[in-house]
Amino acid sequence: MPLLAVQDLSISFGGLAALAGVSFDVEAGEVAALIGPNGAGKTTVFNLLTGLYRPTRGRAMLDGEDLLGLVPHEIARRGVARTFQNTEVFRRLSVLDNVLVGQHTRLSGGLLGGLLGSPRVRREEAEARRRAETLLARVGLGDVADVDAASLPLGRQKRLEIARALALGPRLLLLDEPAGGLNPTETRELMRLIRGLRDEDGLAILVVEHNMELVMGISERVVVLHYGKRLAEGKPHEVARNPAVIEAYLGSGSGDADA
Ligand SMILES: Nc1ncnc2c1ncn2[C@@H]1O[C@H](COP(=O)(O)OP(=O)(O)OP(=O)(O)O)[C@@H](O)[C@H]1O
Ligand SMILES: [Mg+2]
Repeated sequence: MPLLAVQDLSISFGGLAALAGVSFDVEAGEVAALIGPNGAGKTTVFNLLTGLYRPTRGRAMLDGEDLLGLVPHEIARRGVARTFQNTEVFRRLSVLDNVLVGQHTRLSGGLLGGLLGSPRVRREEAEARRRAETLLARVGLGDVADVDAASLPLGRQKRLEIARALALGPRLLLLDEPAGGLNPTETRELMRLIRGLRDEDGLAILVVEHNMELVMGISERVVVLHYGKRLAEGKPHEVARNPAVIEAYLGSGSGDADA
């Protein structure tokens, strides 16, 4: 059984069918890429998988359980975490606090308990802090834990967002354009991190990305969306040679496609 089985996923906004009958799988411990021209429906898939949108039709089975009736925090608790296309760090918080906010749902004491400072809550807070520091080291931000998130360059803000997602302890990580706006060096570092999360941490990762070097370099499987439908699915080199895929990218006039 795949870790994630998306079946017949469909959603319309007004008259527009943003997704129409999309199906694909993500296996445990694999990196899969979801690609397609601008407006193809990639982010909409993530918004459905994380409970922000409700589908008109379809299912998304995580380990056999349908995610699509659940609210976002229930989905997070089942092991699905994401980052956003427009990087969303808490700009006024320190890097460490950004990660602590990410794991707050896991603490039993909550904010009030933290203020009242019972011993159990203080122990939990200290433990949360250690976990956050470990996660920051994991994504290469161990040296900037105390600086304001806003002062980080974009490449590091994107890593911070990944650390915050990891704080939820996911099995499946959804990354929406993690290389968007990154320079080639930052992109290669990101590729190394994603491979490490798969190979060392055993995560399954579904990545939406326009950067074809990243897509071809790290994914075992590529799913191509076009106008809300699955146009192709296969190994990276198969998809790259698929005439329908080439036509979709050339025809879309999407300058991002080969960025
Ligand atoms: N909340 C919404 N309300 C109305 N239309 C929406 C909404 N969300 C998405 N859409 C529409 O659904 C289609 C798919 O959008 P989506 O953001 O999923 O594309 P995408 O593949 O992520 O594109 P990009 O590569 O530009 O990020 C677009 O036509 C978009 O305008
Ligand atoms: Mg998008």
